Amino acid sequence: MERKIVRVDPSKCRLCGFCRYVNTCYSPGNCIGCLSCYWACPYNARYIVKENITEETVTITVNGVKVQVPSRISLAEALRIAGYEFDKPGSRKPSLACKTGGCWSCAVLVNGNLERSCIVPVQGGIVVETDVESRRPLRIVHGPEPHLVGGKGTPWWEVDYVNYVEAAIWVAGCNLRCPQCQNYHVTYDNATPPLKPDEAAKLVVECHREYSTRGIAVSGGEPAINRKWLVEFFQQVSKRTPPSVRKHLDSNGTVLTPDYVDELVEAGCNNIGVEPKCVKIETYMKITGLIDRELASEYLNNAWRIIEYIYSNYGSRVYLGVGLVYNVDLVTLDEIEEAGDKLYSIDPSIQVTVLDYFPAFRRTNIRRPSVDEMLRVKKALEERGLKTVVVQTARGHVGPGNR
Ligand code: FES
Repeated sequence: MERKIVRVDPSKCRLCGFCRYVNTCYSPGNCIGCLSCYWACPYNARYIVKENITEETVTITVNGVKVQVPSRISLAEALRIAGYEFDKPGSRKPSLACKTGGCWSCAVLVNGNLERSCIVPVQGGIVVETDVESRRPLRIVHGPEPHLVGGKGTPWWEVDYVNYVEAAIWVAGCNLRCPQCQNYHVTYDNATPPLKPDEAAKLVVECHREYSTRGIAVSGGEPAINRKWLVEFFQQVSKRTPPSVRKHLDSNGTVLTPDYVDELVEAGCNNIGVEPKCVKIETYMKITGLIDRELASEYLNNAWRIIEYIYSNYGSRVYLGVGLVYNVDLVTLDEIEEAGDKLYSIDPSIQVTVLDYFPAFRRTNIRRPSVDEMLRVKKALEERGLKTVVVQTARGHVGPGNR
């Protein structure tokens, strides 16, 4: 039988330790082809080969039914073979959202314990249950830390570079594969022990109190890909803080649906940043590393759609910020202007923050935009009529009125 496995290219490996300490293998020496390490290696030193192996099978029990599946595959693959269908990322049911072990959205019960099916190997004799509704969800969390600037959704007037504006956590796992991921140590972490939503909420609220921040934020990775965890997190933060505390979700917007946003707002979330990044599908694919055009198109359209939904349904209850990105190698000024026109048609006052993409992760051959370039981006958007434009620069954020 032919199987995909991952090998290391020694000429590219820098012995950085990322695969030993951050994105670790759960089947060492016996590759199951889960591809987690392939996506996570910062130096792109892993490659996929097809190998012929002798078929061996194991027997597992899935929801009370015994099934024979090949050995040396991930539990998720075994479940698929057994006929189980994972849901779409962003649903309440198990989904294969990050496939790198960070988000825990794929977790099912293995012998009574939650286990990430995307990265653990299948083992003979295990008893698997896919109904995890009654179990507290888990997720890998970094932080909390106090933050001086916040994200694209942080109200620009709250940022004074003197006081901490938010207490933030960052959650692991993302459904995108951005080669210039600006936060890859979090995104691809699958080794840190996960937290329940109440544990994360307790920590971030303590941080908020200690530093007297006006807001509490969750960023990533992509927070929205584990819906159950995220909704419970906001419920738990709301239980511990008054409504006046800003509760901020920083998202790429790809999996947020109207009913999901309703649920988050109901849970107390009153500040959402959505980052469609750009408007053209070719640009989006280049930025996000997605090679499936249909999926990329679905994600990009969804991000823009959800901005309109939040704006028209929660204009007064949720402070909305939109994120675009700029780097001359990835996005043109014309496209920035096109995005500006799109945002202007929603509301000329909508807050838009443009991130200056700098070299990071696998895309180290780009140059960070100069401050002047970013000011030109700001001017271009303002000339389209937008009134609340913030640009991130190497010397800090520049907001409306060059504040
Ligand atoms: S899909 Fe398995 S941890 Fe994210």
